[in-house]
Amino acid sequence: MSEIVRVLKTFVAYLKRPDLYPELGRKIVKNTVNRGNAFKGKEKTNSWASSRSISQQEAIAKLFGADSSPFRSAFSDVLKQSEQKERACPIKMGGPGALELIYYSCEFANAKNVVETGVAYGWSSLAALLSLEKREGTLYSSDMPYLAQDGDQYVGFVVPENLKRFWKLFRFADKESLPKIFADNETFDVVHYDSDKSYNGRLWAYHELYKHLRKGGVFISDDIGDNSAYQDFCEASAIDTVVVEYEGKYIGVFVK
Ligand SMILES: C[S@@+](CC[C@H](N)C(=O)[O-])C[C@H]1O[C@@H](n2cnc3c(N)ncnc32)[C@H](O)[C@@H]1O
Repeated sequence: MSEIVRVLKTFVAYLKRPDLYPELGRKIVKNTVNRGNAFKGKEKTNSWASSRSISQQEAIAKLFGADSSPFRSAFSDVLKQSEQKERACPIKMGGPGALELIYYSCEFANAKNVVETGVAYGWSSLAALLSLEKREGTLYSSDMPYLAQDGDQYVGFVVPENLKRFWKLFRFADKESLPKIFADNETFDVVHYDSDKSYNGRLWAYHELYKHLRKGGVFISDDIGDNSAYQDFCEASAIDTVVVEYEGKYIGVFVK
């Protein structure tokens, strides 16, 4: 699909959804007057992140005192089924990230309530749900519909049916979803950010998520090398964060 057709298709799909008009306004500002915002401070943050990054395995041992190797064998069947579902999915989204980091964060925090932004196929959701199911906990997720690809019904596609009873999926932009989620549940054991990658979008959500994270809970943000929002947030709040290097990208994680 050419870029212009994709943009037009997305725009028309937005027009059909009045509940998404606030996000449409924000997207127009983001892609016009605020264009530079996506990469603000990127260079500074990449050298900061590369100088301190450790592997996912090391971070799990350091922060949670856990060995991450049993995860793949313990859940090999469900992971295999989810991979098959991803392959069969007619639309293409991003693949799995650092699943162990999410799973062992939930285990460490004895999580009953987890909030995440950004679902796509649902790989991060699956990792949290595999832990939450043991405590009959709840995952609250926020994701925008995949308007350009008619992919609305495929958000969370790899999450098995039996785990869906522990899952509340909010289908709005974060600025609308998060207030609804916090009205439903105030305090969380783990928060995972993986949605709007702009500098301003991140800073807004980081502050919101941090406020609703309990002391001793785990904060995770994906793709922190896109711009300096995560580094700036941690420095301004005197947070000592761990940085994980995973498949060429950086993930930030700390215990509050
Ligand atoms: C990288 S993907 C998430 C991947 C997922 N966490 C995983 O591990 O499989 C990013 C997702 O964020 C969603 N997204 C982007 N901007 C958003 C916003 N402002 N509000 C809510 N969701 C948003 C996109 O629709 C997309 O599904």
